[in-house]
Amino acid sequence: MPFSLSSPLDMHIHFREGDMLKLVAPLSAKTFAGGVIMPNLVPPVDHISRLIIYEEEINKAIIGHGFQPYMALFMRSYTEEELAPIKDRIIGIKLYPAGVTTHSDQGIKRIEDINRTLAIMQDIDIPLLVHGETTGFVMDREREFISIYERLARQFPRLTIIMEHITTKEAVDMLDRYENLHATVTLQHLIITLDDVVGGLLAPHLFCKPIAKRPEDRAALLHIALKAHPKLMFGSDSAPHPVSKKECCGCAAGVFTAPIALQMLVELFEDHDALENLQAFVSDNAKRIYEITPPEKTVVFEKTGDVIPDKYGDVVPIYPGRKLAWNVKVEGEIW
Ligand code: DOR
Ligand code: ZN
Repeated sequence: MPFSLSSPLDMHIHFREGDMLKLVAPLSAKTFAGGVIMPNLVPPVDHISRLIIYEEEINKAIIGHGFQPYMALFMRSYTEEELAPIKDRIIGIKLYPAGVTTHSDQGIKRIEDINRTLAIMQDIDIPLLVHGETTGFVMDREREFISIYERLARQFPRLTIIMEHITTKEAVDMLDRYENLHATVTLQHLIITLDDVVGGLLAPHLFCKPIAKRPEDRAALLHIALKAHPKLMFGSDSAPHPVSKKECCGCAAGVFTAPIALQMLVELFEDHDALENLQAFVSDNAKRIYEITPPEKTVVFEKTGDVIPDKYGDVVPIYPGRKLAWNVKVEGEIW
């Protein structure tokens, strides 16, 4: 029996620029109806002029696919004069603490320094997207950030805050504690733990920030994903790096999942008897939380058992060579 999803959304995706963008953006645009595009480029997307040029580059790369890029600005101190006129062009502003991940050197050093910007965002209704990690011990970084989420949620009760790519039980618990806190979760954090990354031979293509955590963290994430917790959205955090930057000394952080994320989610939800909740997890929750209406797109899945390619261009995906239970059928083609 085929299975279908209506307008699936990827609420956290890295498209990059130039040739990499041309390679990866169409791979997302084939199966997703839209996605939140991360602004951690070099230099970061922190001016509207740069954002408009970047959006044009994306639209050129995905032409004909019925995909809506939802653009996010990189956090710095912004004035109301800057933000008010562009509020409808952006889905939110992404806060990277300085130095926590790829291209975040120009991130925020002291969160108190952007209180004024956060107050403006709250007033004019611009969501705050957060990479919630400190620079502490790697396994504790998200946990240490929880108190910052609490402070933000309390100090700005009308600000929509998205805890991006959550990886811990503690972050899961926050969803029911503060009305204005929401979250995205990736595919890899629903299926792997740190053991899969470093427990055997080092697996560079499973290495990302935040790193995968303990089995009980994964269980807590999977639990709320499978029931499509209303404040949880799918965000792949698919982050392509050329193979030379992954299979080397000094492996870049990022797991490339975009082309097969939906297929693997269908399999995961089917395995747990939760297929009826996948629509909410990959689309309806995001539409409600962000109040967006993405392009209409029906994605049909069939059980044809294709194999995940070894590479897309020079990017190695998660699980190369693994057989997929489900494939996507787009406009009469099996893809
Ligand atoms: O693993 C990651 N890769 N985590 C991030 O937060 C950024 C991303 C990237 O841009 O490569
Ligand atoms: Zn990311």
